[in-house]
Amino acid sequence: MKRLVILISGRGSNMQALLEAQLPAEASAVISNEPSAKGLEIARSLGVPTRVVHHRDFADRGAFDLALMDAIDEYDPHLVILAGFMRILTPVFLAHFEGKVINIHPSLLPAYQGVDTHRRALQDGVKIHGCTVHFVTPDLDSGPIIVQAAVPVLPQDTEQTLAARVLEQEHRVLPRAAGWFLDGRLRLTGNQVRLAGECHYPDPISSPLTA
Ligand code: GRF
Repeated sequence: MKRLVILISGRGSNMQALLEAQLPAEASAVISNEPSAKGLEIARSLGVPTRVVHHRDFADRGAFDLALMDAIDEYDPHLVILAGFMRILTPVFLAHFEGKVINIHPSLLPAYQGVDTHRRALQDGVKIHGCTVHFVTPDLDSGPIIVQAAVPVLPQDTEQTLAARVLEQEHRVLPRAAGWFLDGRLRLTGNQVRLAGECHYPDPISSPLTA
């Protein structure tokens, strides 16, 4: 059985979607950098071991990342998923887990890298917004894109209503991408990710590239 480790910082709804998705892997641990993350309780209630590596316990980003690396290594995971993990990871960390770390980001990358994506999308008046699952590289929110899902931006939208519409899609695409990775179906060429084999998944608003 393959193993996965999920990193969170807060609410944990994407983590919950992963844990409920019946992926072809055991969730070895959920690790949070925030001791008060709500997702920790959810993980425990679903029988998944939890750990806290509190970033404030370390002098700098490098020291925190080394501790996090050690904690993750104990589970020797095939895949590390950032599911609402709000820390920037160092090149040392990412080299250690090269090709094994994926992230869910609440925008259609490369638009709206960073934070406050829904507010910025509303301010810009875009008509289509969405989410992206991508491989994590040292450049923030710039790694190879695995899958995206789009939603309409409605005239009456607030940051909250738009975030909720995007979140619903996050919960669909993140488990899907994790499943493809665990099934060995993702092929990386340069910055392009292709999906091997048949794909019954894409619908008009979400898309992977197929090989
Ligand atoms: C999600 O919108 C995720 O894309 C972003 O932070 C949010 C985390 O939500 N990075 P949750 O903790 O998964 O509920």
